[in-house]
Amino acid sequence: MSRTVTISGGATSLALLLPARGMPEIVAFGAHALDAEFLAHRSSRINGMDVAVPSGVLLPTGGMGFFGWPAICGHRDGKDFTLEFSGWTADGDSKAMTLRASDQVAQVSIAISLSPESDTLTISVSLRNDGNTAYVLDRCMAGSMVIDAGDATLTSFTGMWGREFHQKEELLGTALWLQESRRGRTSHDRSPSLLIACGSETLALHLGWSGNHVIAVDRLDDGRRLVHAGELFEPGEMRLAPGESYESPALYLARDPQHFRGTVRRLINWPGGAMQPRPVTLNTWEGNYFDHRLESLIAQADAAAKLGIERFVLDDGWFGRRDDDTTSLGDWHIDRGKYPDGLKPLVDHVTGLGMEFGIWFEPEMVNPSSELFRAHPDWVLQVEGRPLLLSRNQLVLDLTRPEVSSHLFGCIDAVLKNHAVSYIKWDMNRDLTHPGDALGRAATARQTRAVYALMDRVRAAHPDVEIESCASGGGRADYGVLRRTHRLWTSDCTDALERLEIQRGARVFFPPEILGAHVSASPNHQTHRRHTLAFRAIVALAYHLGVELNPLTLSADDRNELADWIALHKRLRPVLHGDKQFHLEPVDGRYVWGACSEYRIVIIVAQGPQMVAEQPPPLRIALDDLPQGRWRIASVSPVAPDFIQQSDAQNALLAGGVPFSTATLVAAGLPLPMLRPESGLVLELELLQGA
Ligand code: GLA
Repeated sequence: MSRTVTISGGATSLALLLPARGMPEIVAFGAHALDAEFLAHRSSRINGMDVAVPSGVLLPTGGMGFFGWPAICGHRDGKDFTLEFSGWTADGDSKAMTLRASDQVAQVSIAISLSPESDTLTISVSLRNDGNTAYVLDRCMAGSMVIDAGDATLTSFTGMWGREFHQKEELLGTALWLQESRRGRTSHDRSPSLLIACGSETLALHLGWSGNHVIAVDRLDDGRRLVHAGELFEPGEMRLAPGESYESPALYLARDPQHFRGTVRRLINWPGGAMQPRPVTLNTWEGNYFDHRLESLIAQADAAAKLGIERFVLDDGWFGRRDDDTTSLGDWHIDRGKYPDGLKPLVDHVTGLGMEFGIWFEPEMVNPSSELFRAHPDWVLQVEGRPLLLSRNQLVLDLTRPEVSSHLFGCIDAVLKNHAVSYIKWDMNRDLTHPGDALGRAATARQTRAVYALMDRVRAAHPDVEIESCASGGGRADYGVLRRTHRLWTSDCTDALERLEIQRGARVFFPPEILGAHVSASPNHQTHRRHTLAFRAIVALAYHLGVELNPLTLSADDRNELADWIALHKRLRPVLHGDKQFHLEPVDGRYVWGACSEYRIVIIVAQGPQMVAEQPPPLRIALDDLPQGRWRIASVSPVAPDFIQQSDAQNALLAGGVPFSTATLVAAGLPLPMLRPESGLVLELELLQGA
């Protein structure tokens, strides 16, 4: 006899039917408390079998009447290739529940953890081998969700190095939609994030995992779709010894991706328990590359402090003999040629100026040209008999070997213990191509867990140190790594025009205050495009703002202007990094985003390519609960935006002389002039007191 369980946390409810045999049927997922009694009377679907075999289930197993894509499968040396769980129990309460069942034939048991928090549902799975021989798990998704029948549009987040988080929409057809990511890191090209819209229903999902992953959207016989996400295993990789369990990553589901903003904010583990205002950062990479000159860095720190910068991050180039990217990864001792008295003079100078000091590591990597590789050539991931494939001249260390992880912890710990370091930029600059361990077995899954364990160990030893997750830009951006890190380096591309699309995609799944956005030099180092300082600053302003250039190369005018933008960011960041944010879909190359507080609305407008239309449509802000009252434009930055044409009426509005009500702002919008391509502006609207 089936019975219903419902769990709900704030605005999210999930109702499941627990069957006598087979997997829990997904009855409903959404914003409403559900009527369990009623739901228990639903009829199951038959699939042409004489027994009821529902298809819209959580984590379907193959065979036994389910003809779709199995979410869990494995075998015991070729036997026990079907799984059918029974004896479901539900522990916990309606807020956090664990469903347990076992398969007495295959000798495997399962525990599914479900926790709805606020507007997000988190699912993860634990699967245990209860038999007395090894059970090879070929696949085990973290969770599943049903989507209504009908035309569905899927949005995935794709790209490559320097072009992350580009949104691609496609109509779902009748065949299976499959995304498999096999790069051994979250990847630039296949973010584990998806949106599916069908009728009035939207499903947003994200897998919190930094290794290989699968997302599958299967079409059921009745036209509904079942979407699954989980880890992707290499052949034979997930072999469970008797009594051993597999723990899946967490799958996050929501009806609106905006809900994930709160999810990410809850899962980040901040030093001191709460996020402090995000310090404006100077990152030394593009301003210096490997050419570290102590005197210049000290002068750059002085200039940075005067600009209002709060954190100074020393990027690649400080260790071994790292004068280019062919050497020294793995040799985490300070280069005495560049720093004759060690790093202390620079660190002390930076902290003496009132800034935090951050430092770059790429712990998982080694160059063949390094002391570490010469001493331990066996420490790299490799497959005997196969060539060691280099990428950026480097190989990946096998962190599943305890001695390797311990050695790396010792290297990081030594730098952190001996210097006032409060930030690590943790980089990872290549994909895994031959991820074999010392026994010749595939190790991607264990390597990903070992990287997490090393991060956790560093965090436990240095709980006040924040970590930035970087992998050649945004190649390791996911909620798994965000459980132990605090910032994502969104992209190595710092060109403001390119950043419009990159940041638009990234902020669907990540709140802006953890996305690094830096003002870099013009011409831009990646694209050679030239942009005004205003455009570069405006595009970066709402995110975790940084500067990625040598401040000594700025003209006096640029230095003053940059200091003004940094001051504006600091004044606005409580609003921009607050709860009420919006971003509009770009229209005719115009990108609009911002945030509001009780008395203030900050609107950022950036024009990418030249507009096609004669005039931009009036700008209407999409926020449900805008404060009611009368508003005026209180400031416009820069003072003279790069408008193509402006009328007297528009000038009066921009000068703050024309007040308007919230209703007018929402329904009619602001009639702003047309901006020149690759320019922008920041508007501050203030609520008129007593109006
Ligand atoms: C990667 C990062 C950059 C920089 C370099 C240093 O490419 O994404 O920001 O740190 O490595 O080598």
